[in-house]
Amino acid sequence: MFEQEKQILDELIARFCQERSLPTGKLEWRSIPFSGEWGIAAPLFPLAAADPARTQPVPQHAQALAEALRDSIKLPAGFSRMEAVRGYLNLYYTTSEYAKKVIDSVLASGSRYGSREPEGKPIMVEYSNPNTHKPLHVGHLRNVILGGSTCNILEASGKRVIRANYLGDIGLHVIKWLCNYEKYHQGEQPGEDKTRWMGDLFAEADRRFAYEEGFEAEVRAYFARWDARDPHIHALWKETREWSLEGFKQVYDLLGEHFDRIYFESEVEEPGKAAVEQLIKSGLAEDGRPDLPVVVNLDQILGTKEEYRVVIVLRSDGTSLYATKDIPLAVMKFNEYDLEKSIYVVDVRQTLHIKQFRKILELMGYPWADKIHHLAYEIVNLPGNVTMSSREGTVVLLDDLIREATRRALEVVQEKNPELDPAQMQAIAEAVALGAIKYPMLSRENTKMVTFDWESALDFNGQSAPYIQYAHVRANSILRKVGFQQESGADFGMLTHPSEVDLVELIARLPEEVQRAARELKPNLLANYAYDLAKGFNDFYNQCPVINAEPALRAARLALVAAARWCLGNTLRLLGIRAPEVM
Ligand code: ARG
Repeated sequence: MFEQEKQILDELIARFCQERSLPTGKLEWRSIPFSGEWGIAAPLFPLAAADPARTQPVPQHAQALAEALRDSIKLPAGFSRMEAVRGYLNLYYTTSEYAKKVIDSVLASGSRYGSREPEGKPIMVEYSNPNTHKPLHVGHLRNVILGGSTCNILEASGKRVIRANYLGDIGLHVIKWLCNYEKYHQGEQPGEDKTRWMGDLFAEADRRFAYEEGFEAEVRAYFARWDARDPHIHALWKETREWSLEGFKQVYDLLGEHFDRIYFESEVEEPGKAAVEQLIKSGLAEDGRPDLPVVVNLDQILGTKEEYRVVIVLRSDGTSLYATKDIPLAVMKFNEYDLEKSIYVVDVRQTLHIKQFRKILELMGYPWADKIHHLAYEIVNLPGNVTMSSREGTVVLLDDLIREATRRALEVVQEKNPELDPAQMQAIAEAVALGAIKYPMLSRENTKMVTFDWESALDFNGQSAPYIQYAHVRANSILRKVGFQQESGADFGMLTHPSEVDLVELIARLPEEVQRAARELKPNLLANYAYDLAKGFNDFYNQCPVINAEPALRAARLALVAAARWCLGNTLRLLGIRAPEVM
């Protein structure tokens, strides 16, 4: 909000810093909670800490800088006053103009409100990362949802984003699947529901591997043929992998996800072995073959203690491991793109693994190694203690969860709005269902466990997606009823009711909330903001009549409703949640 005013301010501050040979880092502005007037504040502590001419403790020096700024810069237009308080520089807007500026700017930007144009070097976000020839189940859900929303938020914050998906298309699980298929399902094709079929066959293969006499030996023999590049097996592998990809795409479409770049584990296997040779040559890895594996003893190299530990990069029989492949994968990413950052959305249990391969890359001399960032997340507890074993076939497929959610959502929507036509009702139920599933995964801190339950996920009165979607629907229905046209000229000075003031402030916050969520890679910040916004809107809705207000007030309130609707819709979209018009 107020980008122009802030830009002018930033320029004034940059000049001030230049004159005093201070580092000209931009100040971090945040809103001051409303207390009769609106304002923004920025701490001067970072600048004070970096000032070479500092002779007093940072807090005192920050206050001195704030005072110096207050006395030397000219108050830009749109602001009424400036003060220096406890190391902060505070600026207050001219109250009568504030609501007008907020609402006008939202109405002018519409669906772009809160977003900046992407520019600069791209950020890659690798997420989802399922294994082919296995089901895509609810255990994969938080990853996709978190990754997708993180991408949306980064993009809106002004970053170019590359959505990457790294698929586990080789390894024992694939060989088991292929061997079982050839032996028992020769010539069969997946039906409509490809993921389910692939998953069912995986469960069967895995069961045979564990319990069926002789099957393991057959799989091992099959693996050897695969290793010898048997053309028949490789052709079958390619064909069946495609089925998995098509199945995944069905689920991604349902979730509203797409990817710009697909990586396969198979394409980094050989480069991984080459990287291991390089590690041995440079003395970073110890080659214990034929009896022992190839290892990088990071703790020994770095002089650390049980921090980085020992990384096995190649088995004694020369086969590669998970760690082997992440080295060339990272190289591939940075060779192909000039990345500002490379983010990995990966289970928190892999923290050590990522720390290790990043360190190895650093020791290998790759200057971008420190741009690798692990976005860790915790698992989700599902209702009824659903166990997650793809062997027992007890996993809940994503499709099933979505179907169940849609069924439940349909009941609620039917009850709320029985007049809707059935097709529309189905579409709305799906939007509500997906929102209900996604929101609980997004609204909690990434590294905290989520306990999912239907009641709160679908609670129209609680902190849930349907509650936020419903606020959007309410705003929409007011505007529809009056046939709202964006006429300007309303007197926004009339919006003085506390709930109006709160709502204006909430709406004004979206751009900075997006920036903060992007900076900290925390969609939960935005998810919680979305709830506050919906709550702010509902408070206003319950306390301030819109359609029946006298004309001047009605015009101002209608414009506020329109701004709230954009803001709610845009925020939901960033969370990857649809914003229905009716419900
Ligand atoms: N497919 C892997 C798994 O199932 C996750 C891959 C994570 N990404 C990576 N670059 N290591 O655990």
